[in-house]
Amino acid sequence: MRNRMIAGNWKMNKTFSEGVELALGLVEELADGTGSVDVVVCPPAIDLKGVAEVIEQSSAPFALGGQNVYWEESGAYTGETAPGMLEAVGAAYCIIGHSERRSYFGETDEDVNKKAKALLAHGIVPISCCGESLEIRQAGEHVAFVVDQVRKDTEGLEFDDPARYVIAYEPIWAIGTGMNATADDAQEICGAIRATLVEVFGEEKAAGIRILYGGSAKPENVGGYLSMPDVDGALVGGASLKADSFAAMVKSAMA
Ligand code: 13P
Repeated sequence: MRNRMIAGNWKMNKTFSEGVELALGLVEELADGTGSVDVVVCPPAIDLKGVAEVIEQSSAPFALGGQNVYWEESGAYTGETAPGMLEAVGAAYCIIGHSERRSYFGETDEDVNKKAKALLAHGIVPISCCGESLEIRQAGEHVAFVVDQVRKDTEGLEFDDPARYVIAYEPIWAIGTGMNATADDAQEICGAIRATLVEVFGEEKAAGIRILYGGSAKPENVGGYLSMPDVDGALVGGASLKADSFAAMVKSAMA
């Protein structure tokens, strides 16, 4: 069975000391543990080391993730972070293909696929994002669009344990807008993603891959998503920036 996952994407928020403070707050909020729920925090790259130290020193019940990675091992790629660098700092996960990276920084499905391969080679679990714009949804093409993204993003990926690859469905129109998708909207796409994973990886592996919903997910609505058969958790932006609201979502997933 799939363990639920609640992952926090801090985006470009929190200085080093603010990041440490948020991580410490989360340690306190989650002092009773997280049951079978996998909890991940993804701070900005410059905060990773500080949060890693909090996790190590307090045996925190959450794991560390990056927000982006480059696929080369090292070299003249100014401003980029190599997968081995994430690994060395203790990141067990990394978000790739977030719609903000796709739209502001031109990341393509081909890039996302290369990033996934580079992460898997380093034992880091990709949290691979997909999702449609409002125009695509209004044109009724959202299912076909997301399925196409997933096919391209997963091409040629190899991993044995299905827990080592995670997909996050994040409709662009729901991100940071307060206009969250309904639980049925999320299920429609997450179900189509699962069917695509069956085609790509086979029934057994597809049944073990977690699919998260993201886009204005918060303590008040996360339970609705989690009640859907193909939604296994949430990728949380705004509500992950406060320890109490993020912890409330983890507790919802534990219930
Ligand atoms: P919000 O939860 O702020 O809408 O952000 C979602 C997101 O993009 C997480 O990656």
